[in-house]
Amino acid sequence: MKKVFVKSYGCQMNVYDAERMADVLAPQGFAETAAIEEADLIILNTCHIRERAAEKVYSELGRVRQVKRARQAKGHETKVVVAGCVAQAEGREIVRRAPVVDVVVGPQSYHRLPDLVARAQRGGAVIDTEFPVEDKFAHLPAVRGRGVTAFLTIQEGCDKFCTFCVVPYTRGAEMSRPVVKVVAEAERLAWAGIREITLIGQNVNAYHGEGIDGRAWSLGRLLHRIAAIPGVERLRYTTSHPRDMDEALIAAHRDLPALMPYLHLPVQAGSDRILAAMNRRHTRDEYRRIVDEVRAARPDIALSSDFIVGFPGETDADFEDTMRLVAEIGFASAFSFKYSSRPGTPGAELAEQVPEPLKAERLARLQALLETQRQAFNRGTIGRIVSVLLEKPGRHPGQLAGKSPYLQAVQIETDRHRPGDIIPVRIVRVGSNSLFGEPADRQAPMTAAA
Ligand code: 5AD
Ligand code: SF4
Repeated sequence: MKKVFVKSYGCQMNVYDAERMADVLAPQGFAETAAIEEADLIILNTCHIRERAAEKVYSELGRVRQVKRARQAKGHETKVVVAGCVAQAEGREIVRRAPVVDVVVGPQSYHRLPDLVARAQRGGAVIDTEFPVEDKFAHLPAVRGRGVTAFLTIQEGCDKFCTFCVVPYTRGAEMSRPVVKVVAEAERLAWAGIREITLIGQNVNAYHGEGIDGRAWSLGRLLHRIAAIPGVERLRYTTSHPRDMDEALIAAHRDLPALMPYLHLPVQAGSDRILAAMNRRHTRDEYRRIVDEVRAARPDIALSSDFIVGFPGETDADFEDTMRLVAEIGFASAFSFKYSSRPGTPGAELAEQVPEPLKAERLARLQALLETQRQAFNRGTIGRIVSVLLEKPGRHPGQLAGKSPYLQAVQIETDRHRPGDIIPVRIVRVGSNSLFGEPADRQAPMTAAA
């Protein structure tokens, strides 16, 4: 049996794609391994969103070269694949900079991996960064469940063209998978024991897949259909654009118990001037109104966001607007980044780039505020009973690790439960990255075994 090692960078979409790459290679006799030294095929599934992401790939390729050499010395051949968005953006340049690479494959053509690897085995580097007309999903084998939670891609690409972002160029135009395909995949996952499904897409709430009735279905409608699948206990979706938070989706947060009270809704900045320069197509007040509506539908919802500091032209006053917006809304978690100029995006053409030290200073201030809010949110769960989906063994023997509805990591001492159970847990303590709790079910788990 040959072995494949896949390392993924970046977003959840890449995590999903990485698993699907392993799925597409399985019929070719490749088993997944977590040990790079024993891999006949090494795949780096790359991210291009920020500069350092691509640099990490090149330094990782340095290490891969050593592994390949060491294996060669023992008489083993190794093929190296660079997949994902760096592959899409850089193409042949990757092979020029890192000749250790045998295959470069973009996110829209990885269903062709078996053929590409076979061609590389015959000699020479193989590059495939096309956006093929055939549907990638139609060429992928049926999905396999792994563990108790899964990502499910329902939408890919983006038509929003925020001026800082490479996604519309690397992932291409926005497209939604048809409802029947999504439902079939969700059913398979449920049969395989998956309890929680996260629907993913670069702009997931722009979803408008063809429905069973031939009409375009919105994400809100799709969520209702998937929640009806037996075994699907929990649903999430990510990543959303504020402009696409429609009424049906907001109502789903009120009406669907399976839809977890967590929303990742990037705002990026709190200044109207910067929001306009970013081409976000909404104002800070519009964002606040959406948040109010979501909170009216689901008062306990945990809000999360992405922020960029130091977008070209961002003044002190603009940055203070971001700080104020954060203070006004209160986030349970967030990701924040220094603006990084991406070649080919309109942002890269702007003259007034913010000096690096100023970006660093702003980022530190923003992150300190967000961290305070995160801790306050976590502390707010102390003493409460929350339902926890147990996912895997915890840090220490006798512990299981799982997630609260608010996507907080929870560690639980228990010998009565197993991964896949959803149990009520009393939160007793908050650590820096996880909550600690004890089972609040005295007898049996809340859910029957799958
Ligand atoms: N510079 C910094 N951060 C960026 N992001 C996207 N593009 C850039 C960039 N050029 C951030 C945004 C997005 C998240 C996935 O990455 O905040 O929501
Ligand atoms: Fe990028 Fe998201 Fe904007 Fe699309 S909506 S361009 S993926 S930041």
